[in-house]
Amino acid sequence: MVPMRTFEIAGRTVARVGLGTNRLTDTILNHDLLRDAVEDGLGFVDTAHLYSDGSSEAAIGAALAPFPEEIVVATKGGYRTNAPDRLREEIEGSLERLRTATIDLWYLHRVQDDAPLEATMGLVAGYVEQGRIAHVGLSEVGVEEIETARKVVPIAAVQNEYGLGERKHEEVIDYCETHGIVFVPFFPLAGGETGELTEIAGRHDATPTQIRLAWLLHRSPIVAPIPGTLSIEHLRENLAATEIELSPEEIEALGG
Ligand SMILES: NC(=O)c1ccc[n+]([C@@H]2O[C@H](COP(=O)([O-])OP(=O)(O)OC[C@H]3O[C@@H](n4cnc5c(N)ncnc54)[C@H](OP(=O)(O)O)[C@@H]3O)[C@@H](O)[C@H]2O)c1
Repeated sequence: MVPMRTFEIAGRTVARVGLGTNRLTDTILNHDLLRDAVEDGLGFVDTAHLYSDGSSEAAIGAALAPFPEEIVVATKGGYRTNAPDRLREEIEGSLERLRTATIDLWYLHRVQDDAPLEATMGLVAGYVEQGRIAHVGLSEVGVEEIETARKVVPIAAVQNEYGLGERKHEEVIDYCETHGIVFVPFFPLAGGETGELTEIAGRHDATPTQIRLAWLLHRSPIVAPIPGTLSIEHLRENLAATEIELSPEEIEALGG
């Protein structure tokens, strides 16, 4: 079974392995890392308002803005509160630090009970109408919340914890596949080493990390993992996982 190497997100076709940046800080070294990564084929960058206290977004803006056509930059807001004033402040802050007029993909980081989800999505839909957010996503949600949100605004992506070591969101992946929503697993590399993983990695002349990513890419064509790294060597290795073809027996041995 050959997995698709690219996928479509926010109107662009990019490599299916992206970059998570929750440890990224705004340094010259990290600007170089981001530019080298894009040169090496990175097309999907994941950040959030709160990562490294805004320093992650600032680094991405400084290194890559104005964003070239071949990359999609996603960010998030509303982690601790969905209070409308705070959400507006966070979205404005993200636009400023990313040095962009439009956020390609903006996720609600967590659904919080201090505001109804419909009202929060209504606020975000306002930014979409103004052209300041192009596409909307949700993070760490169940099917019911996705359905509630989709009644207000189209949902392009869902970002939930998922990987070989954490399978609690199978139902959400199936729902996303049915409805053409991209599923972005976070913590895609979590979990201990197993005998199967090591053996399969050896067979493919790959690393166990690459096999974890390859397994995710085989799970469904709508899955696009965002492994976090501050190392260009690891990033290249992660992008190369799109080349690995696992057999049905290997997928079964890894847990289906
Ligand atoms: N939506 C949410 O609520 C949420 C929550 C958590 C995270 N996230 C997002 O998901 C992204 C991924 O999560 P994460 O970064 O915490 O966990 P992760 O991707 O599962 O693992 C990151 C760890 O793996 C290492 N690593 C990466 N590539 C490697 C490779 N090829 N070989 C060996 N080690 C490798 C990294 O170290 P090196 O730097 O040494 O490579 C780092 O220690 C985050 O960056 C963030 O963007 C979202």
